Amino acid sequence: MASQTSLDAILSLSKRKGFVYQSSEIYGGLNGCWDFGPLGVELLRNIKDAWWKAMTYRTDIVGIDSSILMHPRVWEASGHLQQFSDPMIDNKTSKARHRADNLIEEYAARLRTKGKTDQANIVETALQAATSNEDLHAIIVTHAIPDPVSGTTDWTEVRNFNLMFKTYVGPVEDVSNTVYLRPETAQGIFVNFKNVMDSSRMKPPFGIAQIGKSFRNEINTKNFLFRTREFEQMEMQFFVKPGTEGEWFEYWRQARWDWYVNELGIHPTHMHRKPHEKLAHYAAAAEDIEYLFPFGWGEVEGIHSRTDFDLGKHQEFSGKKLEYVDTVSKDRYTPFVIETAIGATRTFLAVLCDAYAEEEVPTADGGVETRAVMRLKPSLAPVTAAVLPLVNKDGMPEAAESIMRNLQRSFRVEYDTSGAIGRRYRRQDEVGTPFCVTVDGQTTSDSTVTLRERDSMQQIRIHTDALTEEIRRRLDV
Ligand code: GAP
Repeated sequence: MASQTSLDAILSLSKRKGFVYQSSEIYGGLNGCWDFGPLGVELLRNIKDAWWKAMTYRTDIVGIDSSILMHPRVWEASGHLQQFSDPMIDNKTSKARHRADNLIEEYAARLRTKGKTDQANIVETALQAATSNEDLHAIIVTHAIPDPVSGTTDWTEVRNFNLMFKTYVGPVEDVSNTVYLRPETAQGIFVNFKNVMDSSRMKPPFGIAQIGKSFRNEINTKNFLFRTREFEQMEMQFFVKPGTEGEWFEYWRQARWDWYVNELGIHPTHMHRKPHEKLAHYAAAAEDIEYLFPFGWGEVEGIHSRTDFDLGKHQEFSGKKLEYVDTVSKDRYTPFVIETAIGATRTFLAVLCDAYAEEEVPTADGGVETRAVMRLKPSLAPVTAAVLPLVNKDGMPEAAESIMRNLQRSFRVEYDTSGAIGRRYRRQDEVGTPFCVTVDGQTTSDSTVTLRERDSMQQIRIHTDALTEEIRRRLDV
């Protein structure tokens, strides 16, 4: 797993190898936005496919793809217009704007590093007890917390700053035309609950899954892909009969944990579950799955038992019934919801961090060298196999090209002829390619090649006719 210092290594490798670039880099970049390059887009797609498969290759969940722009009333009903905000404070001298709770947390951390443990404890206890913007302001003033930019304590009041991006539909930019870029994909599912139930003949317990972009005007974007302003979510809302939500919550918290271990290959000791200490007023239970990033533990997914809050609110605001009616028993109810909400792009970062390793390996001349290797689960790797002709003559390129075309019917394949074979292996190791197929002098006479496995670096000799099946077999493991 990646250490703290290697987040920088991952960032630089991401750019160098085409996983992730800074958005609009030639114009100096746009904070909180990133672009996925040729390898990154494949890895992200594979992660999303793994989720889609786990969620929708079953009879009780269907998928949708709802629009990013939605009727503004959706956000009134969901509470986002009123509550989806962070408490912000401005420094009058520097004009810097900070999240008030972060400012206090960081101040306490600084006290702790200076050995002022008692004082740090007092500040942290006050923060935990704070329930309003006034409380946060009082802590900042009482402890004379200085602005990290200007060093002054010249603060405004603490005000709420809504995280939704606003825009307008049509040519007139006025209040009546205001719409928002969705801050979560979930609401697209709630408002389509009845459409899906009616058109797909689904009945509770059943789920609706969606993958799509979400947007939040985060104040602090940090740690690469961890907190960005534009990101992708994979959310699933599971609609159940009231009274059964407890067992379904248990089912999903286990199913989601298993997915990280079995389908993403994340090491279980690098994850933990974190039950929410403070539950939202509508939530019956909530738990996060956290990953140990190089910068510390961070949430990758939330599993929430949300009662009938969301469907209830949309019934109230739209005036439309969002109930299930059992045609036989005439049983009628508004389903309760278990939500599994995961960030695809944040999970991408977790997968990269978990896979990245630097290790000492023996060289052909008996020495040792350091190799960077991305130990991605083979099925997630952006490139499944690299075909490498040993030299660029003696019929080897022709044989290699024919093998490549054959493999390309089933897998993403790269072809590389440049440099010594050892260097070519390293290049593939670094981007996580699980298999290298080397074409040598023997290939042209007996149609065999060497198949090298990335992690063990072990090689077997195999007939080209058996290659596709062998790779497929190893991918399924
Ligand atoms: N519908 C519930 C919901 O959206 P959330 O905890 O706010 O819950 C779910 O978001 C997941 O989306 C998070 O666990 C995280 O993986 C991802 N996510 C949220 N904000 C993000 C951001 N600014 N950048 C990247 N990923 C984010």
